[in-house]
Amino acid sequence: MRHAAITDKTIWITGASSGIGLDVARGLACARNFLYVSARSEEKLQALKREYPDNVHVIPLDVTNAEQLAEAERQINQCTDHLDILISCAGVCEYDDGPQLPNDLYERVMQTNFHGAVSTVKIALPLLRRSTSYPQIVAVSSLAAMVPFPRAAAYGASKVALEYFLQSLKVDISKDNIDITIVRPGFVDTPLTRRNDFDMPFIMSSDEAAQKVIGAIGKRKLFASFPNQMAIPLGIFSLLPRLWISAIAPKFKKPGVL
Ligand SMILES: NC(=O)c1ccc[n+]([C@@H]2O[C@H](COP(=O)([O-])OP(=O)(O)OC[C@H]3O[C@@H](n4cnc5c(N)ncnc54)[C@H](OP(=O)(O)O)[C@@H]3O)[C@@H](O)[C@H]2O)c1
Repeated sequence: MRHAAITDKTIWITGASSGIGLDVARGLACARNFLYVSARSEEKLQALKREYPDNVHVIPLDVTNAEQLAEAERQINQCTDHLDILISCAGVCEYDDGPQLPNDLYERVMQTNFHGAVSTVKIALPLLRRSTSYPQIVAVSSLAAMVPFPRAAAYGASKVALEYFLQSLKVDISKDNIDITIVRPGFVDTPLTRRNDFDMPFIMSSDEAAQKVIGAIGKRKLFASFPNQMAIPLGIFSLLPRLWISAIAPKFKKPGVL
């Protein structure tokens, strides 16, 4: 084990204005790390900076906007010569209830969850290569990447794409010694899930999930999935895809849909 505690690191985190990302940022700022925090809601990021004025620098960013990505890259390079950790947490969830396969829905979800994360990694990579402290890329995926859920074709596909990208990248940049950690939370109580109209088993608080994410960063494993009550059965069903798709997954359909 190289580093269990995460302290004195220079970290860039996206999705830091709300939910899991906000609580991860708070947890890391408390532990003497210096954070560059990004999301679209600048006022929420400024509120976080007011909580930790010495440890937080705000870089507003829509990860789907090329001009804002270029400006964020310029700002972060102006402020620091390296990053120790990138945490890509920015994400959206939209369900396809039809299924109508609406192009715009699929594009929105992929633009943020996949292309946005790729763009963020692209900006961070040269800075991570200059870290002298075991650099690491962390991405918040989802247990939905383990098996296909009804209505989640866009969301699940975006997270599977994200995971494939990072694992493939890990091979391509192996000489750089940059660790990659893919975190797969189950249901977490955040604005993203408060819109859900179905039961969410084993739902946990955002603060609890953030502690799990921070723990996973410290352990530096490739995958970290939680909670166990969901991750273990889903891991088993991922080995039995036909059984899952024909017999188990249909039980998760929202009544009246499909
Ligand atoms: N909640 C769950 O049950 C759950 C489960 C598994 C995985 N996850 C994943 O966890 C991550 C965080 O989700 P959450 O539950 O904490 O939801 P949340 O409270 O809605 O937070 C989403 C974050 O992503 C940011 N974001 C969204 N679109 C963005 C964009 N285009 N550019 C930059 N930032 C953007 C949001 O900030 P702005 O709106 O200010 O831009 C916000 O900070 C997501 O990747 C999500 O897929 C969540």
